[in-house]
Amino acid sequence: MSNQIIGTDVDRAVEILRNGGLVGLPTETVYGLAADASQKQAVTKIFAVKGRPNNHPLIVHVESVDAARQWSSLWPQSAEILGTTFWPGPLSVVVKKAPDVLVEVTGGHQSVAIRVPGHVIALELLSRFSGGLAAPSANRFGKVSPTTAQHVFDDLGTSVDYILDGGPCAVGLESTIVDCCGDIPVVLRPGGITTEDIQKIVALGDDDLGMSRAPGMLPAHYAPQCQVTLFQELSEAMRASETFDAATLRVIDASTNPLVFASSMYSQLRQCDIDGVKHLLVVLPDANGIGLAIRDRLTKAAHDPKNQSH
Ligand code: TXA
Ligand code: MG
Repeated sequence: MSNQIIGTDVDRAVEILRNGGLVGLPTETVYGLAADASQKQAVTKIFAVKGRPNNHPLIVHVESVDAARQWSSLWPQSAEILGTTFWPGPLSVVVKKAPDVLVEVTGGHQSVAIRVPGHVIALELLSRFSGGLAAPSANRFGKVSPTTAQHVFDDLGTSVDYILDGGPCAVGLESTIVDCCGDIPVVLRPGGITTEDIQKIVALGDDDLGMSRAPGMLPAHYAPQCQVTLFQELSEAMRASETFDAATLRVIDASTNPLVFASSMYSQLRQCDIDGVKHLLVVLPDANGIGLAIRDRLTKAAHDPKNQSH
């Protein structure tokens, strides 16, 4: 079954998208669940398949900075600088939306998030499709994001019409989201492009850059079945590990090589569930560079949904 749905046929993907279907989209960050951003019915399907509340806005994926400008009624200088510097790449900009951008895409907001993904197959698809693709991560709402075509199939099965296989995602966690609507750009979600790299080219507002503040971002998210507990030091994690049953315990040290860890983070979280791990102890990386995004996702993975306030 999965063989018929997973493949590398870009023409088939284009046809499905033009007909209002859903395609699993490989990107450098995570796999997306893509639909034609200009077809209301197609975009609506994304929410049904993911089980996602329909006021959570989607990111529109386009092939170039020129294409991105078309989705905005006011293209700020900050978006121009960020786009020309980091695209194609793991960065999304939030800008004032053009009048005809569907309310289903923006979740009722007056702004729209846009990015040019840094993946050769995604770019090939976008160039042949020649339009915008609305795509959230291709996982069930609140669960671990997918970083392989098989992950998408495992989560969504045949409710996706086709999954383009672009291999494992190189970055492995979602794009950095920068809100460019105000006078000073603000990071709403840390991600694949580091805050330090952004600050080299544009001044950022707000000093609270560590955690997601984009709409639709909940305290519990990216969550595996097992209970996740976070530690600052390996020695603390090792001490705590003695209190758990070794048969269903796993300890992961994310602090030694955060960049490499990021690329396999979601696979490792998924593997814990496959292996029947009940308690996962993770040593966090420092809160800088890609470490900020890792800490953001793991903090959400560790959040007990029973304590969720909204
Ligand atoms: O790397 C990524 O960004 C991946 C790949 C597939 O491109 N996509 C992704 O989409 O992570 P998703 O839907 O899982 O997260 C997108 C987040 C939304 O939850 C929302 O917080 C934010 O982007 N967002 C979208 N539109 C926005 C807007 N107009 N204003 C503020 N935030 C927005
Ligand atoms: Mg997501």
